[in-house]
Amino acid sequence: MTVTAVVGAQWGDEGKGRIIDYLAQQADVVIRFQGGDNAGHTVINEYGKHALHLVPSGIFNPATQNIIGSGCVVNPQSLLAEMASLEEVGVSLDNLWISTRAQMAMPYHRRLDELEEKARGKDTIGTTKRGIGPAYSDKSARSGLRIGDLLQPEWLEARLDNALRTINRKLDILGGEAVDGLELYGLLMTYREELGGRIVDTMPMTRRSIEIDAAILLEGQLGVMRDLDWGIYPYVTSSNPTAAFANSGAGLPARSINQVVGVVKAYSTAVGEGPFPTELFDDDGQKLRDIGNEYGATTGRPRRCGWFDGVAIGYAAWLNGMTGLAITKLDVLDHFDTLKICTGYRLSSGEIITDSMPDTPVLYHVTPIYESWEGWLVSTEDCRHWHDLPKQARAYIHRLSELAGVKVDFVSVGPEREQMFAV
Ligand code: GDP
Ligand code: IMO
Ligand code: MG
Repeated sequence: MTVTAVVGAQWGDEGKGRIIDYLAQQADVVIRFQGGDNAGHTVINEYGKHALHLVPSGIFNPATQNIIGSGCVVNPQSLLAEMASLEEVGVSLDNLWISTRAQMAMPYHRRLDELEEKARGKDTIGTTKRGIGPAYSDKSARSGLRIGDLLQPEWLEARLDNALRTINRKLDILGGEAVDGLELYGLLMTYREELGGRIVDTMPMTRRSIEIDAAILLEGQLGVMRDLDWGIYPYVTSSNPTAAFANSGAGLPARSINQVVGVVKAYSTAVGEGPFPTELFDDDGQKLRDIGNEYGATTGRPRRCGWFDGVAIGYAAWLNGMTGLAITKLDVLDHFDTLKICTGYRLSSGEIITDSMPDTPVLYHVTPIYESWEGWLVSTEDCRHWHDLPKQARAYIHRLSELAGVKVDFVSVGPEREQMFAV
């Protein structure tokens, strides 16, 4: 049995989508276990370029079952738009399933996300404004609607009435327009029409997959530094992207995962607010953004760029129980004569930290300690084996692996499916 969790090891956008697309060529099942359409997982293959938001990145393999798991929040409208764009290029959606237990992200969640961000003023979180925080808040408050409710019209109507009692008050306080329940119910009925056949209790599927030793991939969204509990709270998302939560969000027993692949860029990027110790404000930062095309796949925002953070990777590796690393975007570093790696943080007290992440208010004031590495200044884009890489690149990767305390399983040297190899 192989159950492999593929998780973001940094601040998100590490290249999880392309790693899943590559691994899914051999996978029976791919399950998204948390998050919603705040995700933008870019996949480039024979079907062109797609930034997937909710559809699991295994969708391009017609033999793979793709499940949007119970831990997700699903905006049906955005899912339908994504499905249409995939169908347009001939991708089969026959094996796309949505858990009845997944929460529904509603139009009013998006509106609340916008209004709440506005109300935060200068203390904005920089969310993707996809309604993720409000949808998970309603889940915890037990006033959320679930995707499976679409199949039970009377129950749905009652749940919607119940939800709107508080939602409309919240909207009023924040200066938003009240939601018309009848109109929204009508819209939900169209979603039922269009998605109904894909909404299933996914537990029998996952259970059977385990029983027959199927190869299962658990696709994480975002990365550990934006984890609700372990990230840079409050500048986090409202779910848990770490592997420990993957079983629950996917509907698998706690002991089922046997591999955890941490996806990690060869440098650092982040979108949204919060402390980001290795952020560069100089020409090197701009160069990483330009060469790496570091603009958000969901919101188009320029990503903040910086050197590789060895403290954050050590933390991510331990917390996730990583068994291997997938290092992406190595090719972006082809153009630098000197590279830096952060190996520790100096606190304002002078103390040096290497093996834990200080909490948010402290993290704002740390000074990264860097070591310098020689660049390779040749293209790695056509490398397909470990020994094709220049020796400086191998040494650089060795160092990343050492700081993580985890072996390297994969290296990618370009965005296309074949620009990647197992080590
Ligand atoms: P995800 O959210 O973790 O799936 O990552 P994103 O798709 O948001 O961001 C990763 C970006 O880097 C996408 O534009 C990918 O096409 C691109 N990418 C992934 N791997 C590589 C790589 O090895 N080299 C280059 N140059 N681009 C890559
Ligand atoms: P993938 O899966 C990068 C960031 C937002 C913000 C914080 C909270 O493509 O890696 P949210 O909308 O979730 O309430 O925003 O998290 N964020 C992401 N950053 N990649 C993502 O997804 C992200 N999803 C959310 O910028 O800082
Ligand atoms: Mg992304």
